[in-house]
Amino acid sequence: MRISFCCTDTKAEPWLQGLRAALPDASVELWSAGAPPADHAVVWAPPQAFFDEQPQLKGVFNIGAGVDALLKLRLPPLATVVRLDDAGMSVQMAEYVCHAVIRHFREFGGYEADVKAGKWSYRKPRARAAFPVGVMGLGVLGERVAKALAQFEFPVLGWSRSSKAIAGVRSFAGAAQLADFLAATKVLVCLLPLTPDTRDILRFDTLSQLQPGGYVINVARGSHLVDEDLIALIDSGHLAGATLDVFRTEPLPLDHPFWQHPKITVTPHTSARTLRDESIAQIADKIMALARGQPIAGIVEPVRGY
Ligand code: NAP
Ligand code: GLV
Repeated sequence: MRISFCCTDTKAEPWLQGLRAALPDASVELWSAGAPPADHAVVWAPPQAFFDEQPQLKGVFNIGAGVDALLKLRLPPLATVVRLDDAGMSVQMAEYVCHAVIRHFREFGGYEADVKAGKWSYRKPRARAAFPVGVMGLGVLGERVAKALAQFEFPVLGWSRSSKAIAGVRSFAGAAQLADFLAATKVLVCLLPLTPDTRDILRFDTLSQLQPGGYVINVARGSHLVDEDLIALIDSGHLAGATLDVFRTEPLPLDHPFWQHPKITVTPHTSARTLRDESIAQIADKIMALARGQPIAGIVEPVRGY
């Protein structure tokens, strides 16, 4: 079996070594133009030429959860496209989102500023019931995040395409229930895949429907959010602020207003990182399962976009 590795912005050698160790009977090589055709590919944002040269590929393994960049390419006609299925990401995402929600709810930013100014000051405790958290997307990551938030006794709501039965999470489904979901939400967490249906979903008319004093946490993709609409709603006082991990252009350009906005916290697309060892183990297991004709989880449906 031959495996071709083509991941931009990724140090190849440790991945190649790890994949060779996990699949000792396979030949695992870094792709270069004109390389012999492979059976499977391990990729992150490969060039179109990678697929144009290899229409025979049977499996394409994305080393991330989101496949929006991959699905923009013309893919090999018979290939099964597989995303990372957690592989250590959901616990990181739960940490990040709970931290952002709690930091906002408990006003830790305000305490940090007070302490820097040498001020010993108390803030009035806020009512948890007045901070319903709505999670958009209840997939591998969203479900873990929603359950983690419920542990802290926030009222938790979730919105997805199909309705869910998750303990402690009030489920809303489909476009028909979006308005009810938004109206019942104060802190909005975006964990949707980026698809034609979800691009720009965090825009003026949707964010305006959040409860007054609302807060936005975007950890999915930058193109879910219309940047200027968020700033307008924060500056008007309807929203209290935002924590943003993903941006339309990454790295976030230095002249972008998000950097300096006092009510916006920025992190550099780091909420849930790809963990190499976990990912290699998962991909190797799936390649072996496919070779045995067994079913695997994490298969992408290109038509629905995730
Ligand atoms: P997933 O398992 O595919 O889950 C996607 C969820 O979104 C599902 O619940 C799905 O509904 C829902 N959904 C999709 N389209 C929808 C629509 N039009 N309306 C309502 N709900 C819709 O994805 P995941 O693994 O949780 O990851 C989510 C996203 O997180 C990824 O696509 C990626 O962009 C982002 N991500 C970011 C980072 C980071 O470091 N910032 C790391 C990893 C992933 P159904 O359940 O009904 O299908
Ligand atoms: C990261 O953003 C991913 O999609 O895994």
